[in-house]
Amino acid sequence: MTDLPPSEPLVPVPADAAARTHCTAVEYEKLYAQSVTDPDTFWAEQSKRVDWIKTPTKIAGWTFDPVEIKWYEDGVLNLCHNAVDRHVAAGHGDRIAIIFEPDAPNGETRHISYAALLADVIRFANTLKKMGVQKGDRVTIYMPMIPEGAVAMLACARIGAVHSVVFGGFSPEAIHGRIEDCGSDWVICADEGLRGGKTVPLKANVDKALERVDVKAVLVIAHTGGDIMMKEGRDHWYDALSADVGDECPCEPMNAEDPLFILYTSGSTGKPKGVLHTVGGYSVWTASTFYYGFDYRPGEIFWCTADIGWVTGHSYVVYGPLQNGATTLMFEGVPNYPDHDRFWQVVDKHRVNILYTAPTAIRALMREGDDYVTRYDLSSIRLLGSVGEPINPEAWRWYHQIVGKGRVPVIDTWWQTETGGIMITTLPGAHPMQPGSAGKPFFGIRPELVDAEGKTLVCEQTGGAAEGNLCITHSWPGQARTVYGDHDRFIQTYFSTYRGKYFTGDGCRRDTDGYWRITGRVDDVINVSGHRMGTAEVESALVLHDKVAEAAVVGFPHDIKGQGIYAYVTLNAGIEPSDALLAELRQQVRTEIGPIATPDHIHFTPALPKTRSGKIMRRILRKIAENDFGSLGDTSTLADPTLVDGLIAGRKNR
Ligand code: PRX
Repeated sequence: MTDLPPSEPLVPVPADAAARTHCTAVEYEKLYAQSVTDPDTFWAEQSKRVDWIKTPTKIAGWTFDPVEIKWYEDGVLNLCHNAVDRHVAAGHGDRIAIIFEPDAPNGETRHISYAALLADVIRFANTLKKMGVQKGDRVTIYMPMIPEGAVAMLACARIGAVHSVVFGGFSPEAIHGRIEDCGSDWVICADEGLRGGKTVPLKANVDKALERVDVKAVLVIAHTGGDIMMKEGRDHWYDALSADVGDECPCEPMNAEDPLFILYTSGSTGKPKGVLHTVGGYSVWTASTFYYGFDYRPGEIFWCTADIGWVTGHSYVVYGPLQNGATTLMFEGVPNYPDHDRFWQVVDKHRVNILYTAPTAIRALMREGDDYVTRYDLSSIRLLGSVGEPINPEAWRWYHQIVGKGRVPVIDTWWQTETGGIMITTLPGAHPMQPGSAGKPFFGIRPELVDAEGKTLVCEQTGGAAEGNLCITHSWPGQARTVYGDHDRFIQTYFSTYRGKYFTGDGCRRDTDGYWRITGRVDDVINVSGHRMGTAEVESALVLHDKVAEAAVVGFPHDIKGQGIYAYVTLNAGIEPSDALLAELRQQVRTEIGPIATPDHIHFTPALPKTRSGKIMRRILRKIAENDFGSLGDTSTLADPTLVDGLIAGRKNR
């Protein structure tokens, strides 16, 4: 194909990075070739990154038609052992595992060694056992970004309980849905969280969520000391309950395919899905992607700014770094509190070596000007990473030039909740970088671009350039195994659009240099500040309001957030739009989902554009929201073509 826009010029590998890399371009070619031609040998070798109680003899064991995914299926291990115990046993107990930087700069910083982390995790695990939590039980974790969040996750992994972390920004209604969906009997939360100087009423939100679903117990960590309600018999303070537990708790031997965690994520239809990951494959995948992806060396300080409520926090705040014996920084706050220099202050203060953040944060900080950055000593940085959404070349260059002073690699990493860890990236020191492109497939990953009919346009093995829908044709160890309690939905969502292939939901381009550039979602999922949101979820929230007849939600380009949320709403007969109603609808979405889903625009319209058979024409709504009125396409199939003029006029007015 020759009609693709030209790619951005490649940025050469910095000499320092090339000199130290674990994996040169030549080694990458060799390892990648082996990983796809002889995956069993390759993944048997990589599995040595973790300790096994019983070494697996079976490595890959999967089919995409029918859909059944297994890796290392006769292996036995425990992820908590690999993340914590073995480093202490190897004599690294004094090494810092977690640095905690609080929301406020004058708050108390904490340094937790691997030995201290082990003691904390054992105490936590024994407290869970004391409450009655058993192997296989689902435990909901609703925590701020404090070390106890990671400790709670590790404690679950230690005793074989399945954690379901719910992002602290989600609403009581969202917690309720997630507790109910996975039948979780246990909740772990803090009294309150702190973000950007504001308190987040975590326990109060849990209380509201539990008005409509029963659990056996709630374990509450005292964080802010705020005033909260404790329900007799159900709620327990962690400090009190853990006071007399023992200081030994062996790691539960887990089969590689036992469930490790559930994480809810949005799709194009229905309620969020509980994506399930299992112990063995996820452990190996996060250990190896962290090692190669960040070219990690012991002693380096790694800071991933994601919240543990998202998959990035699971894989690269907690499990990837800790399995590698790294020092991982947990930051409770936000990039712009108390001022726009907070990130750079933290990098300087803790001498951070690797910073991994999202384009939305980069764009927001870029807008504030370079002075906030240049007043700090950022010489400790040796690698910058980006994740969560496409990074525009302008933001990439600012990150590279102003934050990295042009001397360190910037890696863009494409992956998803369902993929467990990094799938496409340029390995630091191995490959020149291409601003805006994720780069090359990680070991074992076989990407392919298909057209709408499923015809293969290009794949890594054949080479060449094309643009299409991104599929992965072969399984990898970190792949999600199912949707909790609904394997049919797993098959429907990921393997039925293009039978026999995993469909990512993303559009993508590959150029002749072999760089894969994600162009964004091609389904009804939008990516707002790197947070994945189903348009259907926001619509369901809006129509719950008794004055709303119908709603259609689409994404539109947003300078900072990447995409914003644009909601078209029709009201019931006799109801007039008003500012008060606008505020009510915004609140409605916050209540049902959480503040991150609040629409940027609510556009009242007398009707939605529909085909004569009653189907909403989203393509037209998307174009209008994008202010792209010239290419609305064929509107003649609309039941009422005159509606479009009114919609355009309404868009121009805001
Ligand atoms: O559209 C892609 C986008 O985020 C989606 C996955 O979202 P989630 O499951 O929440 O995981 C986010 C963290 C990995 C993808 O389908 N996405 C993620 N990383 C990138 C990206 N888009 C472009 N470039 C990326 N580096």
